Amino acid sequence: MLKVAVCVSGGGTNLQAIIDAIDNKTITNTEISVVISNNPGAYALERAKKHGIEAVCISPKEYADREAFNQAFLEKLDSYQVDLVVLAGFLVVIPEIMVKKYKNRIINIHPSLIPSFCGTGYYGLKVHEGVLKRGVKVTGATVHFVDEGTDTGPIILQKAVLVKQDDTPEILQRRVMEEAEWKIMPKAIDLIANGKVKVVDHKVVISE
Ligand code: GAR
Repeated sequence: MLKVAVCVSGGGTNLQAIIDAIDNKTITNTEISVVISNNPGAYALERAKKHGIEAVCISPKEYADREAFNQAFLEKLDSYQVDLVVLAGFLVVIPEIMVKKYKNRIINIHPSLIPSFCGTGYYGLKVHEGVLKRGVKVTGATVHFVDEGTDTGPIILQKAVLVKQDDTPEILQRRVMEEAEWKIMPKAIDLIANGKVKVVDHKVVISE
């Protein structure tokens, strides 16, 4: 059984997609041990509680500096002894010490087709604003392992989504979530839970 921690900062629709996929067995061999948020107001925490999942908040505001927060966050995470950490809309930079300790055991969902519209400054709606500004006709989402860079880790799954002429960032964000994020994130977890994902030379190899 793959034990998972899901880290969140906001609404938690990706968390919900994971919970639903475990319930309807689209994801097998997996249990969510804990949901951790940096934001006490995150609705994702309510979603977790509603499903009887432990929900904890560690806010940077409660610590003297980033270093102290990072350490407390890592200690809290370690205490659950999970096999996989899932960043589902978690808007905190993962410290290098944690990346090293959890090498190839942290995955992230990003709302574009990496390497487009990713890296520092591209998160949430800003990604979709960038897409519309550039006028690309296809966007999408990516699930990848987290390495020391920003959105540079090995790519596990991607799914393309068409951009429409009269899209607003909000409309496009919703379409990318519905058509891509809520599908590839559960799929990636299921593949990992069933031992089908390997990283070779910074690339993911999937055995079906
Ligand atoms: C999602 O669109 C996710 O891809 C994005 O934040 C949103 C969270 O929504 N993540 C990033 O931009 C990370 N760089 P949710 O809380 O409803 O799952």
